[in-house]
Amino acid sequence: MNLAIETRGLNHYFGQQHVVNDLSLQVPPGSIYGFLGPNGAGKTTTIKILLNLLQVPRDKVFIFGKDLTTHRIESLARLGSLVEQPAIYSHLTGRENMYNRCLLLGIRRERAEDMLQLVGLSDAARKKAGKYSLGMKQRLGIGLALLSDPELLLLDEPTNGLDPNGIIEIRNLLIKLATEHGKTILVSSHLLAEIERTATHVGIINKGRLLFQGTIGDLQQLSKPVVEIDTNPPSRALEILQEAGFAPQLTEQKLTIPYRSPEDHAEANRLLVAAGLAVYAIHPMRKDLEHLFLDITKNN
Ligand SMILES: Nc1ncnc2c1ncn2[C@@H]1O[C@H](COP(=O)(O)OP(=O)(O)OP(=O)(O)O)[C@@H](O)[C@H]1O
Ligand SMILES: [Mg+2]
Repeated sequence: MNLAIETRGLNHYFGQQHVVNDLSLQVPPGSIYGFLGPNGAGKTTTIKILLNLLQVPRDKVFIFGKDLTTHRIESLARLGSLVEQPAIYSHLTGRENMYNRCLLLGIRRERAEDMLQLVGLSDAARKKAGKYSLGMKQRLGIGLALLSDPELLLLDEPTNGLDPNGIIEIRNLLIKLATEHGKTILVSSHLLAEIERTATHVGIINKGRLLFQGTIGDLQQLSKPVVEIDTNPPSRALEILQEAGFAPQLTEQKLTIPYRSPEDHAEANRLLVAAGLAVYAIHPMRKDLEHLFLDITKNN
């Protein structure tokens, strides 16, 4: 079966800056592919290349198995996208925005009603889009992208700037689109926790390079949680835990041990207290993107 998106050793330069560096993405059909990377990693640039908003080199980008340079129109017709701000007329209502796009694309208006329903904007359809919350605007943007019934959706940080509720709404919408409507979705983010909750597959980039690509299960193997121990002095605690075989790490005055079991934390606690150290807190912690980077580069 063809990959929904494949890039083979893709490069892109802005002047001297090598922004996308030998990037080989593999997005399986039906997946929610989390495209993860910190600010400036090259996510938006890559997505713009996939949408041919930036120049596409020959034999490097394939959409459903076809070279984007030689099958441009056909491939772009299968894509829906939301990159940066959604193109919304703020003086028109949500529904009018959808109707307007239907008119442009020659799509029946009933489709607009269905998509308003799908993105949860039916009740707000008569409100001016300029008065929508950020989350509603994002959902309207996704609704607009869905009008042409694309098989593949490219969403660039759709949860950026949203409150927790807005983030959950988008997350649920993406899961619904993939599981109930068979869409393949590439969604970028700089938040590991966000991607972990939605994606089936993950690609992590930093400075234009792919650091990791695999299933969410592969990622979880890699991002084993740690236990943070708030104690004083941490350097002495490090020695004690090292001797006892806890494999502790001290980075920037933060002491951590790999997560094994609650009994394991209790044992570490007993050892430290017995040695006369003050222990203020012990808690399991999920890794953030930075810590994951450290692990990935260590393992490579
Ligand atoms: N039009 C442009 N001209 C010159 N440099 C650019 C241009 N667009 C992006 N860049 C540079 O390319 C690099 C990657 O930018 P890009 O927007 O792709 O990153 P990103 O991963 O989307 O980051 P963010 O999380 O901040 O959105 C950055 O260093 C950026 O400054
Ligand atoms: Mg970006």
